[in-house]
Amino acid sequence: MVLFEQVRKVYEDGTVAVDNLDLEIAKGEIAVLIGPSGCGKTTSLKMVNRLEALTSGTITVDGRNINDVDPVKLRRNIGYVVQEVALMPHMSVAENIGTVPRLLGWDHKRISKRVDELLALAKLEPGKYRYRFPEQLSGGQKQRIGVLRALAVDPELILMDEPFGALDPISRENLQNELLDLQKVVKKTIIFVTHDMDEALRMADKVVIMRQGRIEQMGSPDEIQENPKNDFIRGFIGEDRLAQISPDSPVEPLIQEPLLRVKPSVSAAEVLDLMEDEGCETAQVIDSDDRWKGMAMLGLLKRAARKGGAVTNGVRVDRKLFSEDATIRDAAEMLSDQDIPIPVVDEHGSFIGVVSSAGMAKLTISRLTRKGKGGKA
Ligand SMILES: Nc1ncnc2c1ncn2[C@@H]1O[C@H](COP(=O)(O)OP(=O)(O)O)[C@@H](O)[C@H]1O
Ligand SMILES: [Mg+2]
Repeated sequence: MVLFEQVRKVYEDGTVAVDNLDLEIAKGEIAVLIGPSGCGKTTSLKMVNRLEALTSGTITVDGRNINDVDPVKLRRNIGYVVQEVALMPHMSVAENIGTVPRLLGWDHKRISKRVDELLALAKLEPGKYRYRFPEQLSGGQKQRIGVLRALAVDPELILMDEPFGALDPISRENLQNELLDLQKVVKKTIIFVTHDMDEALRMADKVVIMRQGRIEQMGSPDEIQENPKNDFIRGFIGEDRLAQISPDSPVEPLIQEPLLRVKPSVSAAEVLDLMEDEGCETAQVIDSDDRWKGMAMLGLLKRAARKGGAVTNGVRVDRKLFSEDATIRDAAEMLSDQDIPIPVVDEHGSFIGVVSSAGMAKLTISRLTRKGKGGKA
């Protein structure tokens, strides 16, 4: 339905807001763009309805390059909801919702019918709300009207930029649930921007985590939570979510960078010095193709050093986990048997990282304290 291909946006002052973005959003899907402030979410959204021009690349909506569509026509066919919905203060709810239908020349009767239909869809009694003015509405009601206005002419695609960002947590959750209910009926394609991970995980079919104009990781809410790709994603998901992990979950969230990585050609004696500097008793031996050659251990290494050998003469290769199938329980059992880091490799023997008792302790602490949620932006 919406396809971004190598989309790039450089503002006049040289800011690279969006950096070669490739993204496909299927019909009827809710894609949530999330990431820290300034990572390019709003810019990505505004390029879809041509409120911002692309610097390079293409965006197609329903197979048509947006640059081939008149911007005014394009915008009438794409719903747009922003944080502080700019409802016209001097217009009633009905007039606000009817804005685009009026521009499209619908007759009065058809507009009224559509307004009442939409109000009913949002469980706002038409007789009661039709003639109200924005100042007579709560914040949550204004946002509901903003959403209905975007739906008025039944566009296939809706863009929402932090639509519930200004609401209190209870109204926000109500509106999220209402939107999900509404979506079951209207089945629109929705691109939704937020900086709230709870909101993203609740709303999204597809979560797109952005960082500095690029996609850092993308997947279903489950995929993202079960396999956060790196520390940035883990930090963004939040420690509180790590608390929900069970012993049978994949070991991935616990994987860390080892304190020491060395090349196989380095001598055992040199590695002993490095270990002393770092204050650690193990080092991971990794070749230039990222292949894991073993874990150097203090005792073995001392013996190898006396013989003047390379680090590879002082390694253990039997202690390891495979990233594909290792669970947290596997790691815990190995650590309880021997409290030294466990290297994690993939099926091709490439090094991924280590699991240590420190990482395990962090998980335990977050489980026991159940740190509160909060904006992670
Ligand atoms: N009109 C503009 N001129 C110059 N830089 C801009 C403009 N709008 C946004 N930016 C910059 O582009 C980057 C992305 O901004 P934006 O898309 O608004 O991010 P987000 O919505 O993720 O917070 C930021 O560095 C921001 O400062
Ligand atoms: Mg923004």
